[in-house]
Amino acid sequence: MSFKKNRFSEETNIVHGIDHSHNTCPDLVAPIHMTSTFKFDDFDHGAGVFDGSQPGYVYTRIANPTMDDLQEKMALLEGGDAAIATASGMAAIAAMAMTLAGPGDNFVACNSVYGGTFALFNDHLRKFNIAPRFVAPAKANIIDRVASLMDSNTRFMFVETPANPTLSIINIELWAYLADQHQIPLVVDNTFATPYLQKPLSMGAQLVIHSATKYLGGHGDIIGGMVVGETPTIQRIRTEYMDHFGPSISPFNAWLILRGLKTLAIRMDRHSSTALKIALWLASHPKISQVYYPGLESHPDHQVAQKQMKQFSGILGFDLKGGREAAKNLLNNVKLCTLAVSLGDCETLIQHPASMTHSTYSEKDLKAAGIDQGLVRLSLGLEHPDDIMDDLESALDAIAG
Ligand SMILES: Cc1ncc(COP(=O)(O)O)c(C=O)c1O
Repeated sequence: MSFKKNRFSEETNIVHGIDHSHNTCPDLVAPIHMTSTFKFDDFDHGAGVFDGSQPGYVYTRIANPTMDDLQEKMALLEGGDAAIATASGMAAIAAMAMTLAGPGDNFVACNSVYGGTFALFNDHLRKFNIAPRFVAPAKANIIDRVASLMDSNTRFMFVETPANPTLSIINIELWAYLADQHQIPLVVDNTFATPYLQKPLSMGAQLVIHSATKYLGGHGDIIGGMVVGETPTIQRIRTEYMDHFGPSISPFNAWLILRGLKTLAIRMDRHSSTALKIALWLASHPKISQVYYPGLESHPDHQVAQKQMKQFSGILGFDLKGGREAAKNLLNNVKLCTLAVSLGDCETLIQHPASMTHSTYSEKDLKAAGIDQGLVRLSLGLEHPDDIMDDLESALDAIAG
């Protein structure tokens, strides 16, 4: 490549050098807009973009074409009007909660949620005088118990389904009805299912949350999050939180999620079929007392899962009869399955919730949520299921008794 001679000094050419504003290359894949800021045509254009009277971008913390592509795609896939892409799943949950609730308010959440979400709700939101009211979803009389937690300061309901790490299933239509009775939104963390397997907005939820770090990205190489819903609420989250608290996603990460999304359907088909195979096999293993997978007929909410999910996704949990010591032995003896937190990657990941992802729970909270010391969580990857089974079998063999 040769640089044309121009009238500028070398230092100026190092900064400017080439004019790329004419770039109209017909890329098959949308390019990544890695830019912090955007040029205005002139003063009036800049002022007009700021006051909203003219279209245009200002600054990537607020909006960026690559972020817009991802937001548009996720709104389409979830059946929402609009979406916000965030720097992480936690940023998405914080943005939602801090917008919908303020000092003196409370919200109802199921007690089996990702450990980071539990810590945000239980420790940090309390500092802002926003109180979580946790409920165990699987116990009897759920309608009465949820209703007894609501008052005029309850601002939203939050659930994960399938839930991390218990794989319990929330009946979305039922919870949406309960939320509607109090004219508050139901927020569903759809990370485990993805929009390919479950569409909470079509069942009455008002907002969907994702850790895009997981199945949406799908390759274990980014951190990102999403909030999807109706335009007025999304707009509120944008102006009341995102613009000035600033947890926006990097355009590069947004682009990688867009890339990952293209293979979502075939990945979820494979993750789901492998998980079902492994769940069925583990269910009859003598060292395992219980397998938690919504695709098993023995799962207490199998029928609800069957009604609201297309397949049952790629995550399962199981209780080892030997408790924490057996879990430690298993995790130290797997060779193909990787001992790591996170989920939804191409690689099979295995971890111990009580001492890892859910170490934010007290002993009492773990018990209330049904997270035993012998519980192991497995996120099935895209390897051949027989190889995963062989690996688990030899690691289980290494456990005494
Ligand atoms: C169900 C669920 N929601 C939210 C999060 C938080 O997402 P992130 O790690 O992208 O901040 C996680 C992380 O594991 C999760 O499993």
